[in-house]
Amino acid sequence: MKATAKAPANIAFIKYWGKADDTLRLPLNDSISMNMSGAYTITTVEFSKQFKKDSVTLVGGEFSEEETARVIKGLDLIRKRAGSTQKATVVTKNTFPKGAGSAASASGFAALTVAGFAALGVTLSEKELTIFARMGSGSACRSIPDGFVVWEKGDSSKTSFAWSLYPPTHWDIRDILVIVDSRMKKVSTTEGMETVATSPRLAVRLRAIPRRMKEIQQAIATKNFSRFGEITEEDCLGMHMVMQTQTPPLFYWNSTTQTIMEAVRDWRKHGLPVYFTIDAGPNVHLLCEGIDEERVLAAVKTIGGVEATIVNKPAIGTRIISEHL
Ligand code: PMV
Repeated sequence: MKATAKAPANIAFIKYWGKADDTLRLPLNDSISMNMSGAYTITTVEFSKQFKKDSVTLVGGEFSEEETARVIKGLDLIRKRAGSTQKATVVTKNTFPKGAGSAASASGFAALTVAGFAALGVTLSEKELTIFARMGSGSACRSIPDGFVVWEKGDSSKTSFAWSLYPPTHWDIRDILVIVDSRMKKVSTTEGMETVATSPRLAVRLRAIPRRMKEIQQAIATKNFSRFGEITEEDCLGMHMVMQTQTPPLFYWNSTTQTIMEAVRDWRKHGLPVYFTIDAGPNVHLLCEGIDEERVLAAVKTIGGVEATIVNKPAIGTRIISEHL
């Protein structure tokens, strides 16, 4: 049996950095994100008794041995839950560069989970799907529910899941992803998180998270854009401060990243309400309201070193689609 799923990438406003359990991928903190309409993965999974081994293909690219092994591990979890021993063929395609801090693993594991269970004819609740996606890549759980999504850290596999706070129609905001380097990041998030406890800033950040989670949910509920942007920038910088003070230190920004961070402050001073957030890579996500999209795009054009921009609206979560890859 064969199924294809389309999964959005997601951008976190309160980010996940550090695990309480490496195997189950239980996070040290709650997080909150928005699905991205312009950056997604489409994955077809086919199970068959005829297949002798699992095969994994990335259209327009190549998976490393490590990445392939991680996908097969995801398939093993799906097979175990579904009570199947059939091998699988996985074909996957991204609309955006893999590994550049734009969450290809999130949409990838969300699509794999949803397509995989559908291909085996097993129907799970959205909550259980988010739990399985989480075990593939933590942030993947946030790509399954619709729109604005909360991932509760929980204290066990069953209590660490994601749910939709609001549908995508709740708030017309934009995440303009500014790609300044589309190459694979040097240190993966899995590897980077392994040494999180070496940062003296970790405890400081974790203490601030409950307040930030509460305040950002209030800001989203009341559509208070400036408050929303301030908390998002505060948490982004807090996470990067943890990364940069780990041993060995992790520095994901390049000079264009820093130019944009500075420009954003300047644009705001001149009356353009725009904020930034950055994941584990040099690319910058610019957040603005729908009515300011054109002004932000025009401002980005004045910056050198930009490879591409992807404009994202809030999007629905992962869905089964009819055409196969
Ligand atoms: O789930 P992973 O391994 O892709 O880790 C995601 C980590 C960040 O993107 C840096 C933060 C987040 O919450 O998305």
